[in-house]
Amino acid sequence: MIPIVRGCAEMTRLARAWRGAGASLGFVPTMGALHEGHLSLMRAARARCARVVVSIFVNPLQFGPGEDLERYPRDLEGDRDKLAAVGCDAIFSASAQEMYPPGFATHVSNERLAARFEGALRPGHFRGVLTVVAKLLHVVQPDVAFFGQKDAQQALLVRRMVADLAFPVEIVVLPTVRAPDGLALSSRNAYLSAEGRARALGLSRALTAARAEHARGERRAAALLARARRELEEPPGLSVDYLALVDPETFEDLERCEPVGLLLLAARVDGTHLIDNALLGSPAG
Ligand code: PAJ
Repeated sequence: MIPIVRGCAEMTRLARAWRGAGASLGFVPTMGALHEGHLSLMRAARARCARVVVSIFVNPLQFGPGEDLERYPRDLEGDRDKLAAVGCDAIFSASAQEMYPPGFATHVSNERLAARFEGALRPGHFRGVLTVVAKLLHVVQPDVAFFGQKDAQQALLVRRMVADLAFPVEIVVLPTVRAPDGLALSSRNAYLSAEGRARALGLSRALTAARAEHARGERRAAALLARARRELEEPPGLSVDYLALVDPETFEDLERCEPVGLLLLAARVDGTHLIDNALLGSPAG
């Protein structure tokens, strides 16, 4: 059985003991309801590091009022079984009380990179993400931490925080894992009806269409975005929140996709907020 660690101090002691014995430590922060996207991060951690810690914590600080904090899927025992199959040395699963005891008042934010896209749609979201990731990194003290490109803005914000504040950790960002039909895996896909899920395929279709246009030599952002938008709007059924082609390092709009550009999109299907992205001009996209 993989041990479940509930206390911050206990987690730090365990991690220090491993590292003191010379083991490299990998860390994968999650909110649980684990799927193959999460597990791909665990496998990468396993391949790279002698010890792997996974955190499971549905972080209230990153949910806005009226968001899905209460109904967010939770399945610690199911997650533990999945982690046993991949191989993980400890699950760090603290309560909100443990993470945010009375008097908690310090936050990490990056107003510039959080101003657009997910940050604009979800005020305070990235402040909650950065604050919890900062705390988790301090508690676990890993050598390497693994994140998914699926949440591209989050991954950039974490990389920026780690660089700006000199956290002694390497951040690795891994490609998005998709279902065979193209839908990016997400814990929130569980909210979709069969019919909603079919409509949600518009997101990955839009990325594929823009990628094909790019492969034919199109470099104008306006043309690439128009191609993606056609796919998102036809057939109807998706409500587009944003669609943009940005510089992957600054998230500022590009006029031309040269040498690379990050196509970002978000849409709602039956009230469920879905995001996806593709790097154009790079084999890793
Ligand atoms: P969560 O949504 O559980 O995701 C945990 C990690 O898995 C994130 O780095 C995310 O980008 C990655 N991930 C999710 N779906 C993926 C997919 N289809 N392919 C590859 N990676 C995928 O992101 C969070 O939790 C939280 O914001 C967290 C960082 C844990 C802070 O609370």
